[in-house]
Amino acid sequence: MITLFLYSKRYLIQLMDSAPSSSWLQAFSFLALVWLFNCGCVHGASPAVKVGNFSKVEDAGNFHIYYGQTFKVIKNSADGQSYLLLQNNSRIASRTKYCTSRIKSFVIPLSNYSVDTTFFPVSFVELLGLVESLKGITSDYVASPCVLKLYQGGQLEMFNNSDYQKLAEFSSYFLSDTDQQPACNFATFVPFMEDTPLQRAEWIKFMGAFANVEARANQVYTAVKVNYLCLAKVATTRTTFKPTVAWMRYKNGLWSFTQEKYQLKYVQDAGGEILGANKNTYNVSDPDDLEEFHAILCTAEVVIDETLTSDPVNYTMSAFIQNLNVEDRSCFSFISNTSLWRYDKRVYNSVALDWYNGAVSQPQLALADLIEVLFPTGNYTMTYFRNIAKGEVPINIGPEMCDRDTSTAMEPTIVACG
Ligand SMILES: *[C@@H]1O[C@H](CO)[C@@H](O)[C@H](O)[C@H]1NC(C)=O
Ligand SMILES: *[C@@H]1O[C@H](CO)[C@@H](O)[C@H](O)[C@H]1NC(C)=O
Ligand SMILES: *[C@@H]1O[C@H](CO)[C@@H](O)[C@H](O)[C@H]1NC(C)=O
Ligand SMILES: *[C@@H]1O[C@H](CO)[C@@H](O)[C@H](O)[C@H]1NC(C)=O
Ligand SMILES: *[C@@H]1O[C@H](CO)[C@@H](O)[C@H](O)[C@H]1NC(C)=O
Ligand SMILES: *[C@@H]1O[C@H](CO)[C@@H](O)[C@H](O)[C@H]1NC(C)=O
Ligand SMILES: *[C@@H]1O[C@H](CO)[C@@H](O)[C@H](O)[C@H]1NC(C)=O
Ligand SMILES: *[C@@H]1O[C@H](CO)[C@@H](O)[C@H](O)[C@H]1NC(C)=O
Repeated sequence: MITLFLYSKRYLIQLMDSAPSSSWLQAFSFLALVWLFNCGCVHGASPAVKVGNFSKVEDAGNFHIYYGQTFKVIKNSADGQSYLLLQNNSRIASRTKYCTSRIKSFVIPLSNYSVDTTFFPVSFVELLGLVESLKGITSDYVASPCVLKLYQGGQLEMFNNSDYQKLAEFSSYFLSDTDQQPACNFATFVPFMEDTPLQRAEWIKFMGAFANVEARANQVYTAVKVNYLCLAKVATTRTTFKPTVAWMRYKNGLWSFTQEKYQLKYVQDAGGEILGANKNTYNVSDPDDLEEFHAILCTAEVVIDETLTSDPVNYTMSAFIQNLNVEDRSCFSFISNTSLWRYDKRVYNSVALDWYNGAVSQPQLALADLIEVLFPTGNYTMTYFRNIAKGEVPINIGPEMCDRDTSTAMEPTIVACG
């Protein structure tokens, strides 16, 4: 009881501190209920249910986890909700169900779940060893050989993400689209909202909490973080110059430079510098714009072309040059020095990029790639990036590439450092 009280109190205080609206009031009534049920155990009526291990959120800014004895609370700023995760063997789980605009309950560990595959990076559940309880997907836009293999083997089904009857059949449905009309079993999973690569990777703890695999989530995140910070430290303490990097994409006649904070952070951590453009978009049909665009691009040593394409295999150097619309390319050192990249090296069916899957949970691999992009050793195999200035083509991901037993967890790949 005392432990429960302390956790509850800490939870309440934090909630009251941070909640913008009256959600703490609802939480209070919930806690009053927990209080009531647990009062039974003071008199020895119900066995204490222990939460295995704890995850502490250190870096991510958009969720928090609080622990009680028979429940956990995830506060998710993406959808402004609190998720009450009730241990399946607790009395409260059989008696309580919450589904309001601020509070939802889930019985954990989840016996099954489905995900909106269009945006959900399945690599998180692979690292946790939870891929076999994934029973539903909304599209086969999945850059994961093992999930594709399970789908091919009929172990998970595919359905339309607007089929609410189907969605209701799962213990939980994880989605990243905060615009979709919510239902009681929906949980919003949005690592993409975070500002840095490590903050995004820490969302593994969010998934871990639903399956009581906090210990594994902590272990993976720590390994990833230690490796990432080691690589960043080596890269940023170099005495050599800092190459200038432009992340840019072309759409409807305009070139724009990225404003994504996590991408800027990658460049900084890899020991580079972001191209200092005066504005973010340049219209190639406007002569003044084109002139300025041409000039600024002459200062870039490395270009990462993020232009969307439905046909990555066909997106070559000449496609880039066609979009560029600049006749005189003599000052472009990223061309003469062959440093023109795309992050679509690993792709399934031309649409699903592993950059939006594996790289989110294992940013140390993306960072190691970028360090090689900026400071080439020639003794390294890229995971996500291909150099279109050297004619490198994408690798098609397929189910036949699944090389592990899907009942076991995928191991993070630790890059040699130091
Ligand atoms: C918690 O994790 C540690 C290792 O991280 C493990 O030794 C211990 O058994 C775990 N406890 C529970 C209750 O799962
Ligand atoms: C709770 O979950 C565990 C692990 O999935 C399962 O073995 C157990 O049977 C469940 N207990 C109840 C009461 O549902
Ligand atoms: C999903 O269902 C909606 C509404 O019924 C429909 O408009 C949409 O085309 C469907 N999507 C797919 C991929 O079938
Ligand atoms: C998911 O698990 C729940 C609870 O055990 C069960 O009622 C449901 O039928 C399962 N759904 C699927 C699609 O396996
Ligand atoms: C780009 O500039 C051309 C010529 O000035 C103009 O016609 C076009 O609308 C502009 N495009 C955009 C997207 O602003
Ligand atoms: C060209 O690339 C090499 C590394 O491959 C680098 O050392 C050199 O500084 C680059 N030159 C220019 C002009 O960017
Ligand atoms: C490749 O792209 C070019 C234009 O860049 C287009 O003309 C050609 O049809 C495309 N090839 C395929 C196989 O899609
Ligand atoms: C290339 O990398 C491997 C593995 O990291 C290392 O053992 C080897 O010494 C490297 N070779 C060179 C020439 O740097």
